[in-house]
Amino acid sequence: MQSPVAYDRQGDIALVRIDSPPVNALSLAVRQGLSACLNRAMQERETGLRALVLLGAGRGFIAGADIAEFGAPPQPPHLPDLCDEIEALPLLVVAAMHCMALGGGLEVALAADYRIGHPDLKLGLPEVHLGLIPGAGGTQRLPRLVGAEQAVHMIATGRPAGAEAALKLGLLDRIAEGAPDAFGLSFAQELVAQDAALRPAGALPPPDPIDWAATRESLRQKARGQISPLAGVDAVEAAATLPIADGLKKEGEIFAELIETDQCKALIHAFFGERAVGQLPALKDVSPRPCTSLGIVGGGTMGAGIATAALLAGLSVTLLEASTDKAETARDRIESNLRAALSRGKLTQGRFDEILQGALTLSTQYDAFAEVDLVIEAAFEDMEVKRAIFAELDRSCKPGCILATNTSYLDVNEIAAATSRPADVLGLHFFSPAHIMKLLEVVVADATALDVTATGFALGRKLGKICVRAGVCDGFIGNRILAHYRDALGHLVLDGASPFDIDTALTDFGLAMGPHAAADLAGLDIGWATRKRKAPHRHPQERIPTYIDRLCEQGHFGQKTGKGYYIYPAGQRRGTPNPDIMQLIEAERAERQITPRDFTGQEIVQRYMCAMVNEAAKVVGDGTARRPLDVDMTLLFGYGFPRYRGGPMKWADLQGLPRVLEEIERFAKEDAWFWEPAPLLTQLVAEGRTFEDLNKAAA
Ligand code: 3HC
Repeated sequence: MQSPVAYDRQGDIALVRIDSPPVNALSLAVRQGLSACLNRAMQERETGLRALVLLGAGRGFIAGADIAEFGAPPQPPHLPDLCDEIEALPLLVVAAMHCMALGGGLEVALAADYRIGHPDLKLGLPEVHLGLIPGAGGTQRLPRLVGAEQAVHMIATGRPAGAEAALKLGLLDRIAEGAPDAFGLSFAQELVAQDAALRPAGALPPPDPIDWAATRESLRQKARGQISPLAGVDAVEAAATLPIADGLKKEGEIFAELIETDQCKALIHAFFGERAVGQLPALKDVSPRPCTSLGIVGGGTMGAGIATAALLAGLSVTLLEASTDKAETARDRIESNLRAALSRGKLTQGRFDEILQGALTLSTQYDAFAEVDLVIEAAFEDMEVKRAIFAELDRSCKPGCILATNTSYLDVNEIAAATSRPADVLGLHFFSPAHIMKLLEVVVADATALDVTATGFALGRKLGKICVRAGVCDGFIGNRILAHYRDALGHLVLDGASPFDIDTALTDFGLAMGPHAAADLAGLDIGWATRKRKAPHRHPQERIPTYIDRLCEQGHFGQKTGKGYYIYPAGQRRGTPNPDIMQLIEAERAERQITPRDFTGQEIVQRYMCAMVNEAAKVVGDGTARRPLDVDMTLLFGYGFPRYRGGPMKWADLQGLPRVLEEIERFAKEDAWFWEPAPLLTQLVAEGRTFEDLNKAAA
């Protein structure tokens, strides 16, 4: 097999080109190729070789270690040894980089003597996002070059530096336009002509110390339980206090420890899951329909958010509202969203003006949709309202135009039946604010044509979304699971936990926000309306608390009214516990004759997670979600589930499914109806299999 690393001698300089698509990851074959080139270069010193230029072909320099190899026993040559070898080479080594030098890729460059990059280059150490620290010398060489503070920033946040910033930091020696082989060669020729010195970073003095305790404290707060950012500080501190050889050893020990952690396994699952979730074997050879113009019905928060996302992605948008006044309000909402994008640097002033002058049309007539490729309905959640809209869309849209509903729980089959073209109907369930949230559930109804589903995915990708295929049911994947674990929390409150204890336990678990604080933010009226809608169909054994309905009846809906589970002083988004809630809860406990008991934080997390996993297993079991990883990505990208836990199914695999089932069976002794184990979970435990086995089988 041909090596992915080519050696090309040009006079007294050799070009070493890594060509391993898609991203030149440092796989075994690449490491073997690099090692062979280093050996050859050593031999060719005798024939006048003076310098080596390392470069990448295709999409960038090197994207880092090959993440797909993690988990298997490491095979030599090991990357840290290769980096040491590059640094020790008695030849000038130049890293000539374009697009990206990430992780192990940047570490290879740090082992070189000189670094030159194209203006588009991004240099970063993103290992923290995989639950790791750099493991090939990055934590020791980077601080020697750029100082401890900057190194901690890059290692603990994983944020890359652009070429200009890297030049200022001393991480790059020069920026050059053109192809890396051309600028690399000419830089190396210049260095050889000047008889430039070798200058290994490892020989530089250690960085000055920083306030390690303060650095750790500030990172601890941001990390919300993730361990790798703090481990990064430990490694940089070692660079400041130990000789380089000991520092490198320390880095290796920390890396070896981290790679065995559940957090690392979960983050690697998230990395691959994020990329796998939108790939459906059924759509492999299906071409999406052309989709450059979008119609949107409804200009409320959701419709305006979807319009903003589409406009930012370069689509033209026609938005329909019931009256000119409402249309103007929708325009204001969209303009304000776009202005925020402008201030965040997501769009230029020129593009901002162009969008408002040309790409956005507002109308009060369905006929305005005559030429659009796809319409998304984002109107009031009421079946009759939706059916009437779809009948109108069917009448006014051109043949082949796709009709999508943004409903979050209504039956898409029933909506499709209001048209003469159910094959062209699907659900596109966005999450609010739709121009910010990454998740899009593509809801496939019974009659949805394959190319319509493919267009839903293609549109989602164009809007920068993580697209998950969902089947039709009340709440699809995400909201159905949410409804279930929220019920479990309601039971916990009735039985003795306070909403505030629950929020603390779950933010300690890693959630960005406690579920009760989140309910206050979303508006308590949403859950209230859902409970009223579901009330007529409830199973007699279903336990649904009513204390929060009492609060809603008094007109308190959370943040927007200043009072909910928490009280929000004017203008503040962080609240203090509302004592009225505890009174309402205690009254309900007394009415139901419940003697409250204590729950530890661990017990709260366990019940919350087991409820989530059990319902998620039912969602996978009945085909609403295609694979366990689809559930995981839904929770990560739509519900603020901590990425370093990988999602509920990964969490369950890491706990061990037998243990999770045991817990569910224990809880079922108190409430057999709610905690009925999912048949899929029972089956997997009986067969000794995991959710990951199902992911692999469906790949
Ligand atoms: N290892 C293995 N595969 C990788 C990879 C890596 N480091 N980086 C990307 N890939 C794969 C992706 O899985 C994807 O595969 P697929 O097409 O089969 O789904 C393909 O390359 C293309 O990746 P993207 O779809 O993400 O392409 P983008 O152009 O959007 O992004 C990227 C490219 C910026 C390089 C992005 O993929 C990325 O951030 N990669 C991870 C970089 C990283 O974390 N590096 C550190 C690795 S750990 C390390 O180096 C340890 C060391 O310190 C010892």
